[in-house]
Amino acid sequence: MNARLGKWQGCVFAAILAVTWGAAAAAAQVPDGAALYQQHCRACHGAKGVPSQRMLSLYPKLKTLADSAFLAKLSTDSIVAVLRHGESRDMKPFADKLSAEEMAAVAKFVKTLAPSSTHAP
Ligand code: HEC
Repeated sequence: MNARLGKWQGCVFAAILAVTWGAAAAAAQVPDGAALYQQHCRACHGAKGVPSQRMLSLYPKLKTLADSAFLAKLSTDSIVAVLRHGESRDMKPFADKLSAEEMAAVAKFVKTLAPSSTHAP
């Protein structure tokens, strides 16, 4: 009886391990920066990088990320640095929520937010 239970438990353990490995393999793929942005940044910075008036009244210093002049000054690495360390009291660090790869993916996505039309004279 005990031996059978042990075997059964072994099976469950193997199944859990398989699922965990599967998840780890999935996580090892390039993270989806756009999805991560919608999940972690949208609430404050807006779906397209333009914050809502309501958010601006809460956080007056909130940046419009969809601004090519602003983004031109920020490299992908410096965006990652903002995510890693935070910026002021309101923009909290994401180091405990996002992996280095995820921060890089979000930063790359942020760089795509600038509307190309603002390049026009
Ligand atoms: C709780 C609201 C909030 C969330 C969530 C948030 N931010 Fe911010 N973010 C801010 C505020 C407020 C500022 C302005 C901080 C300041 O300049 O004092 C800011 C500033 C920034 C800046 C500009 C920093 C600079 O150099 O001036 C970047 C880039 C940025 N956020 C990216 C992100 C990304 C990417 C995410 C998602 C991973 C995110 N933010 C999530 C509130 C938020």
